[in-house]
Amino acid sequence: MRFEFKRTSSVLALNLTVAAFSLMAATVEAAPTIGRSGLVVSADHWASEAGKQVLASGGNAADAAVATALVLAVTRPYFGSIGGGGFLLVRMNGKVHALDYRERAPSAARPDMYTSHPNKKASEIGGLAVATPGVVRGLWDLHQKFGKLPWTRLAEPAIRLAESGYVVSGEIHDRLKESLADFDQSGKTFWSREGKPLEVGTTVRQPKLAAALRAIQKQGPGGFYKGPVARDIVETVKKEGGILTLADLSEYRTLWRDPLELNVYGHRVYSMPPPSSGGTLLLSELQMAEKLKLHDEKPWSGAQFHLLAEIMRRAFFERQYIADPRAMTVTPAQIFDPARIARWVSTVTRDRRTEPDWKSFDLDALRAQPAKEERLETTHYCVVDRDGNAVSATTTLNGNYGSGVWTSRFGINLNNEMDDFTARPGEPNMFGLTQSALNKVEPGKTPLSSMTPTIVEKDGALVMLVGSPGGPRIINSVFQVLFWALTTKFDIDEIVQAPRVHHQFLPDIVFHDRTLNPEVVRLLEEKGHKTKAETVARVYAIRKRADGLWEGAFDARGEGGGSGY
Ligand code: GLY
Repeated sequence: MRFEFKRTSSVLALNLTVAAFSLMAATVEAAPTIGRSGLVVSADHWASEAGKQVLASGGNAADAAVATALVLAVTRPYFGSIGGGGFLLVRMNGKVHALDYRERAPSAARPDMYTSHPNKKASEIGGLAVATPGVVRGLWDLHQKFGKLPWTRLAEPAIRLAESGYVVSGEIHDRLKESLADFDQSGKTFWSREGKPLEVGTTVRQPKLAAALRAIQKQGPGGFYKGPVARDIVETVKKEGGILTLADLSEYRTLWRDPLELNVYGHRVYSMPPPSSGGTLLLSELQMAEKLKLHDEKPWSGAQFHLLAEIMRRAFFERQYIADPRAMTVTPAQIFDPARIARWVSTVTRDRRTEPDWKSFDLDALRAQPAKEERLETTHYCVVDRDGNAVSATTTLNGNYGSGVWTSRFGINLNNEMDDFTARPGEPNMFGLTQSALNKVEPGKTPLSSMTPTIVEKDGALVMLVGSPGGPRIINSVFQVLFWALTTKFDIDEIVQAPRVHHQFLPDIVFHDRTLNPEVVRLLEEKGHKTKAETVARVYAIRKRADGLWEGAFDARGEGGGSGY
């Protein structure tokens, strides 16, 4: 999957009678992974393979998602640990459901717990950063509602890998090295006693984690939220200065929510409702794109990226109104209301970047302000089965190796999701997001997220799944991949690997992949945008081809794997 710029002229030289689609040039050569009866794509080839094996042995998409997720917890703990949380969309028997298994603030959490704390990084690093994890309960609830194969069978591949080990890859090594800037990891699972990260090619075994997974295999959520594993989590967090209690763990519940849905570009798009901002902003962006006839511009051209950036700026203005739904004062539907979208669109021109009268768009909350460099601490996987059932799941620890806390007895890496709250009002969080008061810390509350697991149907049939890690960059990455998937004829891998841009209202900068054509960057600047080269975010997607086969892509910006049958 190398990046190669094709010459547009070689395509333009073609017969003029061909359809308009042929006048487009892809920016990369890439080939998707194909499946006839089922397909899994994720950021890890062991995880995708485990999911595929479950599908091939009679499991459905929910079963395969459980096996895939548990392997990610072993092989990629830096974003897949069972100490994290997430959101997923599941399509089962023709109906799409949204599951919120995100972390919740501990019951002793208070709005001023970080402002009054002497350590400015307390919401990012150490025990106080840890929110009640949701992954195990989420996978269990998914399986209880929709699974076919026994739960015990689905945990087996992860336990095998934890016990017999796997080889440290380049990305795993790099992530270990990166974490040293934030935490002292000496003597922990992946680091030597001197604090050196394991080298590429080393086999890593996790017998302590395997024991926790065995407990979960035998007892379901009881093996994690109660008993020795729960005590290990609470004692470790306490030792590291945190406030999580046994009651927080035993009382943790997931929430089935109604997905947001909208007809756009002749398709039905389903995405994640609050406490994610992802679905609301995605549906706003797609509508703006359609109304602006963004598809009339050549894909990956400067003219198109200019309009994309203008759409993103406006959509991200709306993020200030989104939080845990219990705290929201407006509904997502008010934000992506067609009349409001038409007003936004009327402020955009093809010639230049424009400044709308932002005040006139104010609903009633404080203004949220975003961003900094991409952080790759979340992950996404997609599963489709032979019956058109599907799971599109985004799971996270928030930061790379989360809070940097690993439980003493079972070696479980814990999240730092508390930093997704407005931990210190007026100050940016680790994503550079300065968020509104709606998202303040409160006991039991869910922090605002950008995760955007998405499912697309056409004429009532499943046609696509997509999602991404990358904090606020998730939303715009899903938007661009979905937009090009709905409006061009390139294969899904060419679309996923193509360069993307990101604008999140503030800072007022168009971030772009380093591979974006310099001519395009120049044109953006001519139109009045400030630009900065910075990898945007990874995307994982599956799409149905015209011949009925499934094509899948994992992002070449990182490691990953696809497995179909
Ligand atoms: N932790 C990143 C997000 O949920 O947006």
